[in-house]
Amino acid sequence: MARIETDVLIIGTGPAGSATAALLSSYGVENMAINRYRWLANTPRAHITNQRTMEVLRDLGREVEDEAYMHATQQELMGENIFCESLAGEEIGRMKSWGNHPLSKAEHVLSSPTFMNDLPQTYMEPLLFKTACSRGTQARMSTEYVSHEQDADGVTTTCRDRLTGETLTIRSKYLVGADGGNSAVAEHAGLPFEGKMGVGGSMNILFRADLSRFVAHRPSVLYWVMQPGADVGGIGMGLVRMVRPWDEWLIVWGYDITQPAPEVDAAMATQVARQLVGDPELEIELLGASVWTVNDMYATHMQNGRVFIMGDAAHRHPPSNGLGSNTSIQDGFNLAWKLAAVLKGQAGPGLLDSYSEERAPVAKQIVTRANQSIGEFGPIFQALGMAEGVKPEVMQKNLEARCDTGPEAEKQREAIREAIAFKKYEFDAHGVEMNQRYRSCAVATDGQIEPAFELDADLHYQPTTWPGARIPHVWLFDHLTGEKHSTLDLCGKGRFTIFTGIGGEGWEAAAAEVGPEFGLDIGVHLIGPRRKIVDHTGDWARAREIGDSGCLLVRPDQHVAWRAETVSGDPGAELRRVLRTVLNR
Ligand code: FDA
Repeated sequence: MARIETDVLIIGTGPAGSATAALLSSYGVENMAINRYRWLANTPRAHITNQRTMEVLRDLGREVEDEAYMHATQQELMGENIFCESLAGEEIGRMKSWGNHPLSKAEHVLSSPTFMNDLPQTYMEPLLFKTACSRGTQARMSTEYVSHEQDADGVTTTCRDRLTGETLTIRSKYLVGADGGNSAVAEHAGLPFEGKMGVGGSMNILFRADLSRFVAHRPSVLYWVMQPGADVGGIGMGLVRMVRPWDEWLIVWGYDITQPAPEVDAAMATQVARQLVGDPELEIELLGASVWTVNDMYATHMQNGRVFIMGDAAHRHPPSNGLGSNTSIQDGFNLAWKLAAVLKGQAGPGLLDSYSEERAPVAKQIVTRANQSIGEFGPIFQALGMAEGVKPEVMQKNLEARCDTGPEAEKQREAIREAIAFKKYEFDAHGVEMNQRYRSCAVATDGQIEPAFELDADLHYQPTTWPGARIPHVWLFDHLTGEKHSTLDLCGKGRFTIFTGIGGEGWEAAAAEVGPEFGLDIGVHLIGPRRKIVDHTGDWARAREIGDSGCLLVRPDQHVAWRAETVSGDPGAELRRVLRTVLNR
């Protein structure tokens, strides 16, 4: 029996597995990623790519970030979220989405050096996988995970080579189950879950057809269609989703989960497409059709010893809010540096406990949010008098009634407006995407109180340097060249980084002294006039929540590990104390 060795074995080359492999290889960690299939994502699936995910890609390298933008549909074309009776039929209303409302756009621009975009999984996955392989990940396609056993020193995983039928054994120090919503790794690791699988049924119909005439004047990713059956199963309403503007589309249409899943053949696909587009003559080039279930389930713990789960293996939910592949990639960003630190002897194994402590609450949050978003279509149905199901005659009557004069019609118009505006919790929920604050053994708050959210935490990102939060983005400038760098560009890339200012020279000396004791090369930025990095605008001074001589210790995943208001009497001792805590040494 063939036997292979590696430090980290990753099951799955989806967004979670490929991102983790790319990060581990970037950090110089031996890893292998396997996929039971011979192909990467063969349908567009996930697509909404949020700023935090783009920051992970930017951390992997500007060339990775740039390639993502090159393939993506830009943010401006994602902007109108349309509700209609069909693409050709009457528009019921719309809302600016995905950071395209001018107020939301300002928040996006202020929050990150990156842009939200629409990058179908058929582009994202190859980009991450290519990055992993080009940096040294051993990738094995047509290789299926079968089982694993762990002992005190490592994990022995049994796989099947699907080309030869042979069994092979892979010995690794750690095992990562990024094997999707039916994760065998999660099951074999005995990890606990809450919630339910299969709470709704849905079908995807992928097709080509030039629909410019219906959509180009109101560019959007999502066109929500209210037709009979739109409230059954599925993701809240019938959906025509742009895959490529404006000639490649994915229809998402629900079915009753208590009935057998429908056979989606060419005739059925064409009929559904004609119905939702509202053109009985429409010809489509059918590219594929599949059925899937809406899930509402999350792991309450994501680690068993040397085995971790991430991505859909840990959080199983509908595509609402576009959180699927985003959260999966962000799981990888959280775990990869910790595995690297432990494998390099910089951290004790206890650091790895912080992965589940930090990411399991996120899993719960996003599964709950995504499922809640399905229910929040209800008020739109209600406002149109269709709480009991969509009936074309009733809908027509109500659509006509909303045009009347008189108080009833005015009330109805208001109800429709409000129900649509409320959908910002699904289509413009910047806070859900960006507000993740970690509480764990890998963060030292020293008892500092978490700042309360001043605005709705689901809708608005609130920057803070409170330990556990991601470092706020502001632009800083190179004193000599004038080149601008985001604070996020000045940290990350597998390193711990200290941000300080004039008077904080002691932190610089402490990093040089204490870093090597932990095997760390700690980056230091001493920011101020005539220093290498200058805060010309004062934005950093306003964002950092510490004094000039204070210290922000930032983890490789750009989250703040610890902060000090001012320089202490013995910065070396202080830094040593904090690193011992954060790195479990
Ligand atoms: P993902 O499922 O992408 O990858 C799992 C990987 O593990 C694959 O490489 C698979 O081959 C591999 N694997 C599984 N078992 C294995 C085994 N035993 N041995 C070896 N390899 C194994 N999201 C969204 O935001 N919008 C959308 O419209 C959709 N639509 C959609 C449709 C369909 C049909 C699916 C299946 C999923 C979606 N999603 C979606 C969800 C989105 O695609 C999902 O959140 C991410 O792909 C999750 O990424 P992961 O890497 O965690 O799992």
